[in-house]
Amino acid sequence: MKHSNPQVLIVMGSDSDLPVMREAADLLDKFGIPWEMRISSAHRSPTRTMALAAEAADRGIKIIIAGAGMAAHLAGVVAAKTILPVIGVPMPGGALNGIDALYSTVQMPGGIPVATMAIGKAGAINAGLFAVQILALHEEQLVKALRDYRQKMESDVEQKDAGLQSA
Ligand code: RP5
Repeated sequence: MKHSNPQVLIVMGSDSDLPVMREAADLLDKFGIPWEMRISSAHRSPTRTMALAAEAADRGIKIIIAGAGMAAHLAGVVAAKTILPVIGVPMPGGALNGIDALYSTVQMPGGIPVATMAIGKAGAINAGLFAVQILALHEEQLVKALRDYRQKMESDVEQKDAGLQSA
């Protein structure tokens, strides 16, 4: 799945990660950021994964979001093959319910950073937002869109509270 001239590459270890990682794509859609989505595994298809990461910058990709579960080495392997910023999203599920993926993603050795988000849906949404915030450093209209997004969240909370008070 891809838009033309994608700025963000969303890669995941398995199609079973898609329902969670779709949240990152939906968030990017809200801000009009073109993305490309790929399935590639650090363990099951390592050569392809490394090529995908190594070639991303030359294809115009600016940020990579990598989501994986269990022994989740995808974000780290991708980060090892590019100097683009890599945002990791640990998947829930498995015997340890995402704790395994969290530790595998976040515990990178010094020298190869992965910006690790929360486990699951919140992490995928925040990965998308974090990508927008990075892009906003050089795109003024995204700064305004991010401020509007926060303003809407704030008024949504106020509205919910007002609803609760009048219930
Ligand atoms: C990881 O293993 C994937 O990212 C996925 O979260 C997990 C399980 O994969 P499947 O067995 O569902 O394909 O590599």
